[in-house]
Amino acid sequence: MRHVPMVATYLLPVLLASACRSDFFGAHGKPAAPSQGKPQMLLQGAEGSQCPLKTAEQWTEFLTRNAADNRWTDTCEDSRCNESFHSFVSTSIQKTLVDCTDVITANPKIKTCSDRTSRFIPTWLRQHDSVSYGFNRNNHDYLTSQESLSNPEAMVRPPQAIIDALPTREKVEEAARLHGWKYLTHDSAIDNIRTFIYVPDAKGRFDQWMILNLSAPGEDQSNLVFSVLGVQKADRNGTPLAKVRLHFRDYNVTQSGGSFGLEYTEDRNGKCFSCHVSGTRKLIDRETKITAAKPVAGEADFDATGTKGPPDGFGVKRLNELNDVLMSYGLPDWGEDVTIADHGPVLGDAQGCTSCHNGINRGALTVSTSESQVQKKMSDQLSMPQEAGLLKLLEKGDLHNASLTLDERSTLQTAQDRHDKLLGEYMDARLPDLRSWLLSERCE
Ligand code: HEC
Ligand code: HEC
Repeated sequence: MRHVPMVATYLLPVLLASACRSDFFGAHGKPAAPSQGKPQMLLQGAEGSQCPLKTAEQWTEFLTRNAADNRWTDTCEDSRCNESFHSFVSTSIQKTLVDCTDVITANPKIKTCSDRTSRFIPTWLRQHDSVSYGFNRNNHDYLTSQESLSNPEAMVRPPQAIIDALPTREKVEEAARLHGWKYLTHDSAIDNIRTFIYVPDAKGRFDQWMILNLSAPGEDQSNLVFSVLGVQKADRNGTPLAKVRLHFRDYNVTQSGGSFGLEYTEDRNGKCFSCHVSGTRKLIDRETKITAAKPVAGEADFDATGTKGPPDGFGVKRLNELNDVLMSYGLPDWGEDVTIADHGPVLGDAQGCTSCHNGINRGALTVSTSESQVQKKMSDQLSMPQEAGLLKLLEKGDLHNASLTLDERSTLQTAQDRHDKLLGEYMDARLPDLRSWLLSERCE
């Protein structure tokens, strides 16, 4: 999914600091020499082992230094990740942990004190590589499993009629209308506008959602991304699942000789979980500059010629209806794809987020959660935490900018300041929270 990278000002010191700092371990990834003074006891199995961390003190030093890095909390869900840091973490920190497997196993105290780091680092590596969706399984296994024989067929294969209608919004909307698939073109919390299409399986085993970045006639049609989310409710035979399972897939739109197609690659980057922490996302929950839909085949007021305008308020009605469906699924069963407990501490307690984002009502927020999405929710949309009345004002401002009264503007401004302050606090707490989480157990 494409997105304009966010560089909020409060992040700048961190980014600058990390761009010019040198790696803690120098070129060889070896910990600093143990401090002089009291004699240090060799750990069980350390002698002759390739593990460079031979004493509890060295473990403390290794874990503390790692935890101090400023770069753990930079998310890169939809942009380029920091490749040199990624490669350092992989060839140095993760390698040390792997080389030390025997020492860790032989020393229960070391096992306990390194446990969170040992779980966090591989998770972080997947969440920050340039070749995957960031799930526990690699893209090949993840994408192949979506089409396993126990899953409903075509769950992540969009209907041919939609593909044939690419690449313009007009044609795609028409195809959706004629086939009776509800859709909406709306402002997106990623950027610009998107067209959303909802295609339920005829046998009720899954719902297929599409988010398309479509062009107007004559616009640039290269690099169009066609994202699909299969929300699975039952297996192929119709036996219901206890919780929905999600199947994410990004397609590239291809073009050859005037006809369009879809293809997907197994090395595609795009960290779906980073933004979809609770599974399906709600579409921006208010009328925006574009909130457009028309009745589809089978509905009252459907117009096969497509020339009639929609009934009054139809776009908002459709928005609410789609959002009701998106919110009806509840939290998904991530199965073997995501181990939430390995993504670090649950964030946002001091900011009041955890009354909902607690892993029960709503997905927990972690350091893997997209920085840009938190910023959008809190600062741009003023929707987290929610406050009565603000959405109506934002809507009014968006649609009829000039008609906001002075009072309304000042209400919005105060709300903006409050949300920005809270956002700053949330962001500032992430690194310290992660550090205390990583270092909660002592090695000595
Ligand atoms: C940068 C954040 C971000 C990432 C990364 C991301 N999404 Fe989304 N996605 C969103 C947002 C926000 C929405 C809600 C609609 C909107 O505002 O655009 C959404 C909605 C969707 C929808 C419509 C159904 C729903 O849940 O609302 C689909 C389909 C979808 N995303 C697919 C994907 C796939 C596939 C991936 C990974 C390959 C992915 N997304 C990664 C932010 C993201
Ligand atoms: C009263 C409950 C509640 C509180 C408190 C709350 N949220 Fe949410 N949050 C929700 C709901 C419901 C959604 C999904 C609907 C939506 O997107 O508007 C959501 C969605 C989100 C999302 C998009 C990912 C997702 O779960 O769909 C982010 C990011 C988010 N909230 C961040 C925050 C932050 C940061 C805070 C604290 C400052 C916070 N929220 C406080 C209820 C809450």
